[in-house]
Amino acid sequence: MCGIVGIVGNQPVSERLVDALKRLEYRGYDSAGVATIHDGVLARRRAEGKLVNLETKLRAEPLAGKTGIAHTRWATHGAPTENNAHPHFTDGVAVVHNGIIENFSELKDELAHAGATFSTQTDTEVVAQLLAKLVRDGMSQKDAMQAMLRRVTGAYALAVIFQDAPGTIMAARSGPPLAVGFGKGEMFLGSDAIALSPFTNEITYLIDGDWAVLTADGVEILDHDGKQVARPRQVSVAAAYMVDKGNHRHFMEKEIYEQPEVISHALGQYIDFIENKVNPMTAAIDFAKVPSLAISACGTAYLAGLVGKYWFERYARLPVEIDVASEFRYREIPLSPQSAALFISQSGETADTLASLRYCKEHGLKIGAVVNVKESTIARESDAVFPIMAGPEIGVASTKAFTCQLSVLATLAIGAGRARGTVSEAEEKALVRSLAEMPRIMGKVLNSIQPTMESLSRELSKCKDVLYLGRGTSYPLAMEGALKLKEISYIHAEGYAAGELKHGPIALIDENMPVIVIAPHDRFFEKTVSNMQEVAARGGRIIFITDEKGAAASKLETMSTIILPNVDEIIAPMIFALPIQLLAYHTAVFMGTDVDQPRNLAKSVTVE
Ligand code: F6R
Repeated sequence: MCGIVGIVGNQPVSERLVDALKRLEYRGYDSAGVATIHDGVLARRRAEGKLVNLETKLRAEPLAGKTGIAHTRWATHGAPTENNAHPHFTDGVAVVHNGIIENFSELKDELAHAGATFSTQTDTEVVAQLLAKLVRDGMSQKDAMQAMLRRVTGAYALAVIFQDAPGTIMAARSGPPLAVGFGKGEMFLGSDAIALSPFTNEITYLIDGDWAVLTADGVEILDHDGKQVARPRQVSVAAAYMVDKGNHRHFMEKEIYEQPEVISHALGQYIDFIENKVNPMTAAIDFAKVPSLAISACGTAYLAGLVGKYWFERYARLPVEIDVASEFRYREIPLSPQSAALFISQSGETADTLASLRYCKEHGLKIGAVVNVKESTIARESDAVFPIMAGPEIGVASTKAFTCQLSVLATLAIGAGRARGTVSEAEEKALVRSLAEMPRIMGKVLNSIQPTMESLSRELSKCKDVLYLGRGTSYPLAMEGALKLKEISYIHAEGYAAGELKHGPIALIDENMPVIVIAPHDRFFEKTVSNMQEVAARGGRIIFITDEKGAAASKLETMSTIILPNVDEIIAPMIFALPIQLLAYHTAVFMGTDVDQPRNLAKSVTVE
């Protein structure tokens, strides 16, 4: 949700700021802007829409200066117009902000009463206005920064430059992440280490309540009371290269096809393929002893968690309490301090997931993080980190992170089962052998189903609504299929437990609404086929995603049947994820939407 960068140094900054913003565009792409100080004058360029528009503007009107800040926006308060784009300027103060200033309305009234005129609809402008007023009232820039931080509430990562302090950037963190990078005669600031990777791999993360003063020579980090504090410097593993699409049209397509490779890599961390065993579990969480497990996450990560619930309950006989993080954090769930909690997040920065984690931590639970970004806040605040090793996921719609999350959760559930004595050695070997087979089967499926998915997507693109049905672990998959389709093609879709069909959604069935049924030939198959009969009897058109055994067993006429290989139950969710991802992808391509950066979305949601 918005990306911010800053450079204070010894060379021109504007091009490098834009380069860093490119690595942050996943955080939002409603507008972008950059501000620098040159010859004692603060100047900015801003543009609505994607970063490329800002680049065009900067080519026509370059910005000089060796100190600057920049921003890519995911709009919260105020429309995504150029006028609302950051940096916000008031009287020689420029501000970029990620987050929400919750008391902006009260501050705005107060400042307006004192004579301030606001020119944007954003919450951020109050920060610029307040700082400008405090400086006008006689405070030093540093004192003004501290006084401003005492007044604002909410979530923020802020970067500020003052026209009268050309060699300084001030920054503050309360919620969204902020990293300080160390260069030679230059200092950097960014929403994450990836943004700073072309410049430096020496990073210090600010923690909540910290604020900082950066100059070309170093950084002073202060706590809420203005006391200097030391934060550890670490070497970031964020790759310095810019990830590219290779031969693919979109990052999403590349990421779908990367799945066999990244999953092999992920499984390699968790499985001993020689012994066919799950590697010893972390000592930080004793799965043998925990009475229950809580799982929370958002969006696709939540749906991975829901599949995980089925696995932990089935294989480890471990009761699982699961909810989307935006509900979990406020439900006042009674939790046992002997229990453990797992938080699943690709970015490791999702605000609601982090808040749920903190809620569980306060209640004494041991915390595990299933994350892609090992340096993320969620990872850092956890007792045990389970990296999913998916590599950077650039497409906003999650694909490879989902199947890597599933793969890691499967190994954790098997490991927990072994620890609890509910999975025998022989069962463990069999389950692990199935997991080891998975990348090869995924490769085969990806190569074989693409033409069918492409032609089916033409049909789907004509529809207004689509229903997805599944039972067991295919139920979360049905929801994931619907989420993927609506995110990138903007077609309305819902995922339902197949057994729920007759409790409401059946009223929608007619020849205009395709029903996508996800049904491997598992112990639920016959029941799902009965639900398909109910659809067929009402003239519904069925797209049947099944396996060879399922296709042979079902006699129903369908609009299309996608036949996958027969696979063991434990890997079915990962294999069946492939057709639903490709179907959404091709439908979106066919409709001409912006597949990698769909409207209104952002990759990392650091606000509530
Ligand atoms: C959907 C999607 C989102 C994310 C959700 C959580 O394709 O990507 O639903 O899964 O915003 O994000 P993370 O995993 O970063 O916590």
